[in-house]
Amino acid sequence: MSLTGRRGILSSMIQDQIRKDLGKICQKLKINSSKLVLEHPADPQYGDYATNIAMHSWHNGYNSPFDLAEKIINTWRSNGLPSYLAKIDVAKPGFINLWLEKDFLISQVEEVIKKRNSFGRESLGKGKTIVVDYSSPNIARPFGIGHFRSTIIGQSIVNLYRFLGWEVIGINHLGDWGTQFGKLIYQIKNRRTKKKLTIKDLERLYVEFHQKVAKKPEIENEAREWFKKLEEGNKEAKEIWKECVEVSLKEFNRIYQRLGIKFDQTSGESFYQDKMKKVIEAAKKRKILVKSEGAWVVEFPDLKIPPALLIKSDGATTYETRDLASIDYRQNKWYPDLFVYEVGAEQTLHFRQIFAIAVKLGYGKAEQFIHVNHGLFYLPGIGKLSTRTGRTVYLEKILDESVKRAKKLGSQNQKIAEMVGVGAVKYFDLKNHPATNIAFDWQKMFALEGDSGPYLQYTYARCQSVLTKSGKDLKKEEFNFPHLHLKTEEQNLLRTIYKFPEVIQQAGEKFSPNLICSFLFDLAQKYNVFYNRLSILKADEAELISFRLFLTLAVSQVIKNGLQLLGIEAPEKM
Ligand code: ARG
Repeated sequence: MSLTGRRGILSSMIQDQIRKDLGKICQKLKINSSKLVLEHPADPQYGDYATNIAMHSWHNGYNSPFDLAEKIINTWRSNGLPSYLAKIDVAKPGFINLWLEKDFLISQVEEVIKKRNSFGRESLGKGKTIVVDYSSPNIARPFGIGHFRSTIIGQSIVNLYRFLGWEVIGINHLGDWGTQFGKLIYQIKNRRTKKKLTIKDLERLYVEFHQKVAKKPEIENEAREWFKKLEEGNKEAKEIWKECVEVSLKEFNRIYQRLGIKFDQTSGESFYQDKMKKVIEAAKKRKILVKSEGAWVVEFPDLKIPPALLIKSDGATTYETRDLASIDYRQNKWYPDLFVYEVGAEQTLHFRQIFAIAVKLGYGKAEQFIHVNHGLFYLPGIGKLSTRTGRTVYLEKILDESVKRAKKLGSQNQKIAEMVGVGAVKYFDLKNHPATNIAFDWQKMFALEGDSGPYLQYTYARCQSVLTKSGKDLKKEEFNFPHLHLKTEEQNLLRTIYKFPEVIQQAGEKFSPNLICSFLFDLAQKYNVFYNRLSILKADEAELISFRLFLTLAVSQVIKNGLQLLGIEAPEKM
């Protein structure tokens, strides 16, 4: 199954219908329409959809793309346009532009109102399974901004695929195993106090170890010994390790609760202790494991990337081996169609290596493995916002500050301030394509007129306030508007709402929650223009009041559904 092959599974209805109907016309004219691409023109005056099919196919017997485009639209017109189309036209140098019919657009508002929280939900992924590996922080280390990105983007991918009908397994692959635990155990063993460990102790001990190494390099060996003992099941080592895991998990779980994150499985690297042997044996059997300076590695002469280390010269296993064991395990447990990893871009090489080995070991096909990499947050003029090298930036501090700013924005209610504050940070992350590096900027995060979480939440709350003020129960109102003369502001909303299912499918296909953000921002802006220019409750006719209220209801519902996919709450009031 190739990525492009998934297009069919993830493409939306009205688009499909157009593709089908236009496809028939093409067939009639003996034009190959298998690569028919439909896009939304950047300028809406060129219609709701445009296709450049004529640009590709005019060589077979036509004078120009324009010539063929005209032929297509004339044939289509004489065949009779489908009822969902208002008109079609040709634009230079040979685009075919399509305008959707008003009745169709209005019917989509009704669709939103009928389907409510399920508007946009699809069963396209029926029978398909996806495993999403995300968040995956490291025990005994602070939960920093990098793991925040993985957590937020990963959760959004989980939500999206579930909404699209896939069976989704979200996994927190905790960093709870590896040589670093030898260092930690060494430090804890050499502590003077016997007081109970706190998360701060763990973070400090780790930093101190590295300071000590500078003076006493031999302690590296002792740490290595300790990890070896841990891998061999030494009781004392295991007990210390267990305590570290418990202390950290408690901390992480508090953060997850605050962020509203739910995993289907939390199984860290340690889970694969007894599952690595199988991988090593499989690799030996396939003769891909070679000895190199006492260690065991897999080489990639065809890919021209450095070898991957599976067993260190002291016999210790590696991050790579554990990842391979986890793929084998996941494959046998769920037979996933896709294995997705939401992990920082600095691990790109790692994933290229383990994906290549997984393919060699027959765990899956190359196109089933996807590394959705994320960039980092940085402070302009200063550099990476990091948890390493001393400049620790704790996620919780950022969230607290954000909630404080949310309060200043207006809401004194703690619950709402939390929704707005946490939502602001999440949105600030998600509105960017995952791979981009983001300049940290409080102003933008809270821009009430800009592309921000608070702006969307504010627009949602505004809709709710209009609906409440109307005093009407829209459930009892009839949805029937045959005589409307739509104003531009209304048209603009209608010509946006229907795109929602399409947008989420694209966001899923491209692993890009940012597409949902830009759609929601566009919708919210259009709603606010509509709100500012037209009267809703004081409109001239009862029919108009009712229509504009339905429109308001639909907009608020779509914003809510979109925010929900992003993992951001929509407070009724702000
Ligand atoms: N714990 C790792 C780190 O923080 C990320 C793990 C990502 N997932 C994986 N299956 N390798 O660097």
